[in-house]
Amino acid sequence: MNTTDPVRILIGGADGKHVALNAKMANRHGMIAGATGTGKTITMQILAEGFSRAGVPVFLADVKGDVSGLAMQGRPHPKVDERIESIGIEGFQLRGNPVAFWDMYGEKGHPVRTTVSELGPLLISNLLGLSGAQEGVLYAAFKIADEEGLLLLDLEDLQALLSWMNENRKELVGEYGNFTSASIGAIQRDLLVLEQQDGETLLGEPALNLNDFMKVDYSGQGVINIMDVTTVMNKGPKLYSTFLLWMLSELFENLPEVGDMDKPKFVLFFDEAHLIFDDAPDALLDKIEQVVRLIRSKGVGIYFVSQSPMDIPEDVLGQLGMKIQHALRAFTPKEKKAVKIVAQNFRANPNLDSVAAITDLGVGEALVSVLDEKGAPTMVERTLIRPPQSRIGPVTEKERTATVSRSPMYGRYEEAVNRDSAKELLKIRADEKMRQLAELEAEEQAEKEREAELREAKKPRKKSSGYQRQTASEALIKSLARSLGGEGGRLLRGVLGSLLGRK
Ligand SMILES: Nc1ncnc2c1ncn2[C@@H]1O[C@H](COP(=O)(O)OP(=O)(O)OP(=O)(O)O)[C@@H](O)[C@H]1O
Ligand SMILES: [Mg+2]
Repeated sequence: MNTTDPVRILIGGADGKHVALNAKMANRHGMIAGATGTGKTITMQILAEGFSRAGVPVFLADVKGDVSGLAMQGRPHPKVDERIESIGIEGFQLRGNPVAFWDMYGEKGHPVRTTVSELGPLLISNLLGLSGAQEGVLYAAFKIADEEGLLLLDLEDLQALLSWMNENRKELVGEYGNFTSASIGAIQRDLLVLEQQDGETLLGEPALNLNDFMKVDYSGQGVINIMDVTTVMNKGPKLYSTFLLWMLSELFENLPEVGDMDKPKFVLFFDEAHLIFDDAPDALLDKIEQVVRLIRSKGVGIYFVSQSPMDIPEDVLGQLGMKIQHALRAFTPKEKKAVKIVAQNFRANPNLDSVAAITDLGVGEALVSVLDEKGAPTMVERTLIRPPQSRIGPVTEKERTATVSRSPMYGRYEEAVNRDSAKELLKIRADEKMRQLAELEAEEQAEKEREAELREAKKPRKKSSGYQRQTASEALIKSLARSLGGEGGRLLRGVLGSLLGRK
């Protein structure tokens, strides 16, 4: 076997044996864990290469700016030769991979965007860290937008809708639950914070079509999509984890069931995976656990990368077929306990003391267990991870720019567009409302004058129009609320219907 084997993806070697991931089992997910500097990123790199060679498109996030080298041929190095020698790889070639660079900020790759309505209330609520009452208001906002045909594309749309809800609170409260101005105000303030974290760069159009992450190049290799998240990790890591969750739910909702395949259709690496689970509410954790379990049958493999497997909830951990554990530190009692738990989670190997090995592993070495043909975990092996064929470390700016401009994706997402959406429509509505209210007032004024004239003429007085005036304005708001429903409402309902159903 060599590194170009299409079905078995070589991970490395142990005691003269090769340890490989069976592509058929690659939709059974996996984990790469280990302390800082132990080799996690390179392991992700060699797996990404293996999948790409096998014709499987890959998504991965570049957290530290050190995986872009996947696009370039590796540099020869005596240490690399040593590794190839001790693992025993025949015909090892240094080579680059087909890569597409992406970036939420549109600076280090094609811009990545999605819309407020695609994210949906559950993810936005988690992103903003809303309370139960505030979450209720957000669900009401989505329902109103749906019924009124208001497109929620960017943060401004959501702000405008919330302001409108506040202005018309009295009319809306009965139908959409009992929400307060205070809750609306609190969400609006959270949205401002998100704007300061540049949330608007992620939210808007053209929204990413995930099919563009699932491409194979002309030679049949899977394209590796590298999303640079170095900036977003500084400004608002929650935006990054929200994006990962959005991808997960989008794929889950849109891909058909495929059953067992020779290889997955798409593989995603979730680096800094703990960010997804940190302070996520139980409802969301349940959802994630469920989606991870079910997405397998859609031919999608998810690989969590994190410092410790303890960062990943047990329900998710229990579903992971491939486990690559790099060295862990064990100084504190807590760390020692973690090492024991991690070691026990592997299928024991009588020739290996896993607990001792975990703290003793060298850089680029790991305890590895994969699934065999029948889907059962193999015995844990101490494995020297193969070196990458592509470059270790980043591309230069020049190389990046060249890759981006050569990409078939170039031009598809580079220009942001701002369609007429909730903000614009609500402005039209507000203007129309002002116009009609002004007309109404003019009429009332005229009526008052008529009444005065009548009084002058000492005729019996007509009843005050105060009550009628109020109902007239009320009716006006209700009718306006419906007048702009139109086509947008129907278009949006399909999307939102399923999003709302997600809760
Ligand atoms: N399989 C490997 N083959 C060759 N070199 C490797 C391998 N694994 C790791 N290395 C070397 O070790 C260095 C550190 O590895 P890596 O960047 O993958 O660590 P990490 O666990 O991702 O660290 P961090 O937690 O800081 O992100 C690499 O830059 C590379 O030089
Ligand atoms: Mg790393």
